[in-house]
Amino acid sequence: MPGFESFGALERKEVEDVLDNGVLMRYGFDAMRNGHYKAQSLEEEIQKTLEVNHAQLVTNGTAAVSVALALAGIGAGDEVIMPCFTFVASFEAIMMLGAIPVLVDIDDTLTLNPEAVTKAITNKTKAIMPVHMCGSMANLDALMTMAKDHNLKLIEDACQAIGGTYKGKYLGTYGDLGCFSFDFVKTITCGEGGAVVTNNAQYAKNADLFTDHGHDHIGNDRGAELHPYLGYNFRISELNAAVGLAQIRRLKDFIAIQKKNYTILREALSVFPEVTFRTVPEGGEESYAFLNFFLPDLDTARKVSSTFKETGVDACFHYYDNNWHYIRKWEHLKDIKTLYPVSNDVKNGLAYLQTKTFEASDHFIGRNISCLIKLSWTEQQVRERAQLMVDAIKQSL
Ligand SMILES: Cc1ncc(COP(=O)(O)O)c(C=O)c1O
Repeated sequence: MPGFESFGALERKEVEDVLDNGVLMRYGFDAMRNGHYKAQSLEEEIQKTLEVNHAQLVTNGTAAVSVALALAGIGAGDEVIMPCFTFVASFEAIMMLGAIPVLVDIDDTLTLNPEAVTKAITNKTKAIMPVHMCGSMANLDALMTMAKDHNLKLIEDACQAIGGTYKGKYLGTYGDLGCFSFDFVKTITCGEGGAVVTNNAQYAKNADLFTDHGHDHIGNDRGAELHPYLGYNFRISELNAAVGLAQIRRLKDFIAIQKKNYTILREALSVFPEVTFRTVPEGGEESYAFLNFFLPDLDTARKVSSTFKETGVDACFHYYDNNWHYIRKWEHLKDIKTLYPVSNDVKNGLAYLQTKTFEASDHFIGRNISCLIKLSWTEQQVRERAQLMVDAIKQSL
């Protein structure tokens, strides 16, 4: 992460194509567009790159999660099990549909603990939603078995994990539906954008309708198109898609750079027996977007985090004290502070947040530091950073 560090001639060329013909909308205006369908081309490129049958672009990753849930038929009063460590958007996306986020503990993978998921299944549960935080995954086989046993959908929030794999499949393509974000700080960016991917043809057909006011996209007269279902507007613009089109073609290079930089930093920190790394489940390979490591206790993690800041080791996060990624600081969600009334089902469904504690997750998040891996570093800069990190840890232990 992130692709914005590396804009160049390829992105410029794709954007210029769009500006040259002036069609900023993905549908229609066929005579004017000079053969440029950037959103459609990006969808095809995502399908090819991630080896998945269908990709639907949307406005952002939050919309991708809401759309994926809607396609899976999840709505009013349904429960969706998700981890208590994620970006706040995963929670928001469930709420948007009038469904209920059921937060459970994570383990040392930094995402869903399958045992915690089993305990949370009720007769209202409709989906399990692992979030592949910081580029790596939960034990997806265990979650898939559970989903099948209980007739639930497995929906992957892969917004932070493009390029990671699990048992030969790209993250996001393992479950029933997968979601990506292409916001400004993701491994590849559209500025703002997102995608839903699936191998299910019916979901794909519905995604096409649902993200464009229910339009069936049959024929070439938009005004005459039919609307089999209620839909909304989650359309991406051609300008955003054009940037993403250039970026996805560079994904494999970006992942290789991330891996190289990650490996130098990880090897440097491996000299400390007190430092351990997040567990990547067997058969998984992370996207190397972040290096995640654990210190012996919360105090040490806080000391290391502040020494990093003082010594210029930027973009390293101690999520325990961060407002947007961990349940500990989500007072507005615990208290259901919304601008509009929510249903009694949702109010009652979220009441557990007033009392539930997440000690098992505190144990991991309290000790974790998560360092963003940049693309623009030279090897010398990575090595200097590694030395600063080693010094900060040495002085804090
Ligand atoms: C795990 C996760 N889910 C969803 C999103 C939402 O993506 P967007 O910012 O594109 O709405 C993000 C964005 O950071 C994320 O990290």
